[in-house]
Amino acid sequence: MKRVLSGIQPSGQLTLGNYIGAMQNFVKLQNDHECFFMIVDLHAITVPQEPQALREQSEAVAALFIAAGIDPAKANVFLQSHVRAHAELGWLFTTLSYMGELERMTQFKDKSSGKDSVGTGLFVYPTLMAADILIYNADLVPVGDDQRQHLELTRDLAQRFNSRYGDYFTMPETYTPKIGARIMSLDDASKKMSKSNPNPGSYIALLDPPDVIRKKISRATTDSGREVKYNPAEKPEISNLISIYSHCSGLSIEEIEARYEGQGYGGFKKELAEYVVSVIEPLQARYHEIRSSGELHDILRSGAEKAAAIADQTVLDVKERMGFVLPK
Ligand code: TYM
Repeated sequence: MKRVLSGIQPSGQLTLGNYIGAMQNFVKLQNDHECFFMIVDLHAITVPQEPQALREQSEAVAALFIAAGIDPAKANVFLQSHVRAHAELGWLFTTLSYMGELERMTQFKDKSSGKDSVGTGLFVYPTLMAADILIYNADLVPVGDDQRQHLELTRDLAQRFNSRYGDYFTMPETYTPKIGARIMSLDDASKKMSKSNPNPGSYIALLDPPDVIRKKISRATTDSGREVKYNPAEKPEISNLISIYSHCSGLSIEEIEARYEGQGYGGFKKELAEYVVSVIEPLQARYHEIRSSGELHDILRSGAEKAAAIADQTVLDVKERMGFVLPK
C-alpha cells in the first residue's frame, strides 16, 4: 500500500480536464492505497478571490470530489487551510528554494506574464505545493501533465533537505493517465482545457447542463479531414476528442477508430456528447444530493483530523532537524 496525495484549486469551475487528468485516478487509487485528497484553498488565494466566491467554490469542489466517486470511508478529503501545518512547512520550504528555480516554473511564467504587479504568493506557490506532498511523505501524486514541473521541484527540495539535514523525505512519483494527461481546449487544441479561459465554449465544466455540453461538443473545432484517427501530432483536435471519448466510454482508442471507420465526424461527435453526458449527469445528481444533505462538513472535519495527525508530526520532525527548539 502506498501513500497518495493530490489537490485541486477551488478557483472557478472544475472541468472535464480536471476530471480526466486527476479525479478519475483519485477514484481508482483509493481502493488500494492510503489517500489524501484536498481542496487547495491556500493556493487559490495566490490570485485575488472574492471571499464569498472562495467559500462557495471550496464547498463546491469538496462536493464534486465525493460526487465523482471519492469515498470518504476510504480516502481523506479535506480543505488545505484546515491543516495548518501545510502553511508552516510551506514557509520552511521557501527558505530552501532559490529565486532562479521558481522563476523557471512555466505555470508562474504563464500566470504572471504581461502583469504590472505579480503577487509573491504566486511566486512561492510551488514551495507550498512541495510542502503539501512531502508533509505526508507521499509516494504517488496523481495529477495532469501540467503539474510535472512542480513535482520535479518537489523532488529537488526533498533531496536538498535530505542532504542538508539527513534522510527524511520520500521521493514522490508523478502518476498521470496514459492518455488524457493533457485534455486540450475545445476551440484550440494547442492550449490545455482550463477553467480560467474566458471563452466558456472552450471547456466543459462538470456542472454544465447536459444541453450545454452537447452544444459545446458539436461546436468543438475539428480539422478539415474526415477520418476518426488518433494522431495527436497531425490531428490534435480529433485526437483530443478521442481521448475524451475513451475516458467517458471505457473503450480503447482502437475500438473507437474501428467503430467510426469511413464515417466522418458527425456521428462521432453526437455519440461522444452522449457518453460525456452519461458520466456527468449522475455526477451532478450526486453533487446536488451531497450539497443539500449537510454531511459535507463532517466529512471535511474528519479528513482534516486524520491529515493533521500526520502533518503536525512531520513539521515537528523537520523543525527538530533544522535546529528549532521544540516546545517541551
Ligand atoms: P489545478 O487546480 O490547476 O488542477 C487540478 C488537477 O487537474 C489537472 N488538470 C488537467 N489534467 C488534464 N487536462 C487538463 N486540461 C487539466 N487541467 C487541469 C491538473 O494537472 C491537476 O492535477 N498546483 C495544483 C494543485 C495542487 C496540488 C498540490 C496538486 C496544490 N498542491 C499537491 C498535487 C499535489 C493545481 O493548480 O492544479
